[in-house]
Amino acid sequence: MTMPESSDYQFKEPKKWRMHHLAQAKQAGRKITMITAYDALTAPIFEEAGVDMILVGDSYGNVQLGYSSTIPVTIEDMERATASVARSVSKPIIVGDLPFGTYEASPQTAFDNAARLMRVGANAVKFEGGAELADTVKLLTQGGIPVVGHLGFTPQSENTLGGPRMQGRGEAKQRMIEDALALQEAGAVAIVLELVPASVAKEVSEALTVPTIGIGAGPDTDGQVLVWADMAGMYDWVPSFVKKFANLREQLKGAVQDYTSSVKDGSFPAQENYKID
Ligand code: KIV
Repeated sequence: MTMPESSDYQFKEPKKWRMHHLAQAKQAGRKITMITAYDALTAPIFEEAGVDMILVGDSYGNVQLGYSSTIPVTIEDMERATASVARSVSKPIIVGDLPFGTYEASPQTAFDNAARLMRVGANAVKFEGGAELADTVKLLTQGGIPVVGHLGFTPQSENTLGGPRMQGRGEAKQRMIEDALALQEAGAVAIVLELVPASVAKEVSEALTVPTIGIGAGPDTDGQVLVWADMAGMYDWVPSFVKKFANLREQLKGAVQDYTSSVKDGSFPAQENYKID
């Protein structure tokens, strides 16, 4: 990719986001916005709101399938969710998450599973891990599948990491920078940094030409990602790195309470809601 030299390079807002826009946005200092979506109901709303990237994350397992972790999510689950999102949006980059057990064993396995998500409409795939997956990133990239990396707290490894904890402190910082550089060198188009101290996320971001997308990683990453149900206030509790930008849980509950009491007291349906003949 040829990148303009100038640091005051002006980013032209794309009509449709493509992979080369990511590094261009970083170079121009234009923050990249990413949000999760798993279905054709929410994804078009997020597109209309102007998000640059939609992550069909394996958080699908927690948010919509009722699992307490992402471990049980299957490639079939992710195919269905990715296909629903892909049928309903056209402008943002759609990133499909490879679930646990579908990419770690070999680059070929990863390619085969990534191809399944690409076939149903993903524009790129994401998977968790560092330099040990560089050959996988290379094979997918050479085969036409853009890859988004994921470093820091990687939820699929919660059993070996001891739960959701900050990663990259102390000596682990250098390893994270090396992992990020290895992923970039192998062809990754962006790297998600999850639960990383802000100072470390800043250093990792400065070491790369591809953008970092932070979640719980402070303000100096090149973009931010949040799980939609967290940021929209669908839960009473959210982690401290999340801001609730709305309180949809209460609004939705209020609407359904209104509906049930209107049915019970006979005020719904009213005259404007039905025809006699
Ligand atoms: O699955 C997901 O939603 C993710 C984000 C937390 C980055 O991987």
